[in-house]
Amino acid sequence: MTHALTRAALGAALMLAASGALAADKLKVGFMLPYSGTFAALGNAIENGFKLYVAEQGGKLGGREIEYFKVDDESNPSKAAENANRLIKRDQVDVLIGTVHSGVAMALAKAAKDADTTLIVTNAGANAITGPLCGPGIFRTSFTNWQPAYAMGPVAKARGHKTAVTITWKYAAGDEAIGGFKEGFEQAGGKVVKELSLPFPNVEFQSLLTEIAALKPDMVFTFFAGGGAVKFVQDYHAAGLDKTIPLYGSGFLTDGTLQAQGASAQGLLTTLHYADGLNTPRDNAFRADYSKAYGAQPDVYAVQGYDAAQLMQSGLSAVQGDFTKKADFRQAMRGATVDSPRGAFTLSTAGNPVQDIYLRRVDGLENKVVEVAVRKLADPARGCKL
Ligand code: BEZ
Repeated sequence: MTHALTRAALGAALMLAASGALAADKLKVGFMLPYSGTFAALGNAIENGFKLYVAEQGGKLGGREIEYFKVDDESNPSKAAENANRLIKRDQVDVLIGTVHSGVAMALAKAAKDADTTLIVTNAGANAITGPLCGPGIFRTSFTNWQPAYAMGPVAKARGHKTAVTITWKYAAGDEAIGGFKEGFEQAGGKVVKELSLPFPNVEFQSLLTEIAALKPDMVFTFFAGGGAVKFVQDYHAAGLDKTIPLYGSGFLTDGTLQAQGASAQGLLTTLHYADGLNTPRDNAFRADYSKAYGAQPDVYAVQGYDAAQLMQSGLSAVQGDFTKKADFRQAMRGATVDSPRGAFTLSTAGNPVQDIYLRRVDGLENKVVEVAVRKLADPARGCKL
């Protein structure tokens, strides 16, 4: 009897100690993001957004304090596997957050899958991540490259354009954005007459702009982002092309870039899953908090980082912060509705947001919402077997 009581008391003490240790252990979050190069501002905005949500929860997610680890991936695919393994193997993070560049993100997703580490992609749109590379531990709070670009197709056709030339960087994000636009535009009856490209992250656009002038299409559709987007919009304007051939893009062309683009971007129409002027209580509160914390207005990248932390919170709440319940954590995340500043969204089976895509027009320093171009657009997730 005494013996049995002692055993029971010991068991209870051990359980208490284990739960104490669990609560005391910090959750390890690894940021693999670009902190240098053409996408540096995007990486910083993602980290800011993530940390803002954590701060709003009193510095914890699912009741657990967070320990951050960081790697600058430089948007360099050739270093991506090594960088991912620094976080996975050296730092042994619980969750990976990243990245911006599609080529880097594909290597990150492969490394995460091999190690069975949960990954939340906070920008990179590579279709493959929620296509052939999809998996139970792979999530995205951003978009596929196909999504915003596809939405511009019917919009451009409805505006009376019959022919388009496309121009982008030659890598997964550029190729897939052009593919998405072409699909939407040609389904609507338009024709892409020429696809122009240059290597990432080159910004010597002059000869390609001369070619566009000679081709005289009804419109140009483009994918550029970050520093490259600033330079492209400035060069297009300086060449006088915007007077005769209207320029359209997926919204990265003008997000987080308007201060630098100034007059050259005014009036540009783009499609994206976020916009200025949504004027919902959720977005207004987010924008007020973000500008108070960082002294700047948020952009789409900040929203994607913020929503990654929200998604983690949904998973961690379901397991009361017990990260050893990995399968339950992931299942709760996949079934979550994320109360995003962009508008609430759910995840597809493949783990990608099913979300509204907005048509926006540049007005001053804002990408003002014009209308919802496509409601609840789901990526086709071609090749995902889950
Ligand atoms: C990408 O590489 O997937 C990407 C980079 C910047 C903005 C949008 C997409």
